[in-house]
Amino acid sequence: MFITFEGPEGSGKSTQIKLLAQWLRERGYAVIVTREPGGTTIGDQIRHVLHDVENTAMVSTAEILLYSASRAQLVEQLIRPNLDKPNTIILCDRYFDSTLAYQGYGRGLDLAQLQTITHFATAGLKPAITFLLDIDVVRGIARRVDNDEEMNRLDLESVAFHERVRQGYHTLAQSEPDRWRWVDADRPITAVHDDLITQLAAIL
Ligand code: TMP
Repeated sequence: MFITFEGPEGSGKSTQIKLLAQWLRERGYAVIVTREPGGTTIGDQIRHVLHDVENTAMVSTAEILLYSASRAQLVEQLIRPNLDKPNTIILCDRYFDSTLAYQGYGRGLDLAQLQTITHFATAGLKPAITFLLDIDVVRGIARRVDNDEEMNRLDLESVAFHERVRQGYHTLAQSEPDRWRWVDADRPITAVHDDLITQLAAIL
């Protein structure tokens, strides 16, 4: 089963994925944890280019294609080969919904075109379930600063940009309620984890 995690900056996705992976392994599942951009050697090199704060000259079309290139590599190299293995769960920190939220709703690029590019990069592979870890934008950014997390090129965007991203996530989640599961991420780590395992246990 392929499960993705989405959300604005500072929503705690990576912490929750780690806890969830441990919880699943304790229950006998084989768990593969990965992330976007990155997750493969080539993808990690692309991630470096995408997130380098020096790369302020990057145009939005190049940005989309680089995220998509990293995604194509991840799908072919890691996700598809493990998709149908018994008892195996792939947990991915961000996937194509990030492109729709950040480049589409955030940057205002054409959503239909982004869907076409995304479809090309993934050959149409969709996650079974997507958890939206939702948090107020200013609270999320403050969390990243408090936790001394690495700042990337997207972190340099305005609060208004991140607000559009968050609203974009809400729109995406509402448009496909069977795939999306909503989680209030503005709570202590254990409360968010309990919520996630309750929802996941019901699915499994
Ligand atoms: P993160 O690993 O800390 O979540 O950083 C990934 C950043 O890249 C985050 O700011 C969201 C951004 N991003 C996009 O803008 N488009 C995409 O398609 C993906 C996967 C990530």
